[in-house]
Amino acid sequence: MATRDFHLSYTVYDSVDALPSEDAALMRAALDATRLSYAPYSRFRVGAAARMQSGAIVSGSNQENASYPVGICAERTLLSVASTLYPGEPIDTLAVTAAGSREPISPCGICRQSLLEFQGRTGRPLRLLMGGEFGPVWVVEDARGLLPLAFTTDNLLP
Ligand code: THU
Repeated sequence: MATRDFHLSYTVYDSVDALPSEDAALMRAALDATRLSYAPYSRFRVGAAARMQSGAIVSGSNQENASYPVGICAERTLLSVASTLYPGEPIDTLAVTAAGSREPISPCGICRQSLLEFQGRTGRPLRLLMGGEFGPVWVVEDARGLLPLAFTTDNLLP
């Protein structure tokens, strides 16, 4: 019998303006992306922006549907855009925010699963900046920390 624990380190910045300038610019791009959100049901407009390894910026926003489960989060919209425009290229840093929010937006469970697989298949840690329109920003250096004991491709049978 053994007890094991998980440890998650993350950095807290007081505001977007306190971030290093490249990260602050990415948070602003994420906030810009909230304008393209389609969220008539929740009225919660989420935006995400990523800096690819090459420096290119891609963005995404949440897109809802009258059949609620059909809606897709900003983070997964972004991952689809990134995979389509820059197939196989790692994401260096991904920022997520929501219009009007005063709390950091933390990706949902499904998005964590998608982020983890994206990181795994592109072979480079994906940094995440989680913020709101106002207030603090949390930074994690590796998407794996957000999904302990994850189910991955390694668990599938040969
Ligand atoms: N949402 C995102 O787009 N990303 C998150 O990290 C959290 C939630 C969306 C899904 C839905 O359109 C709305 O926010 C309310 O849950």
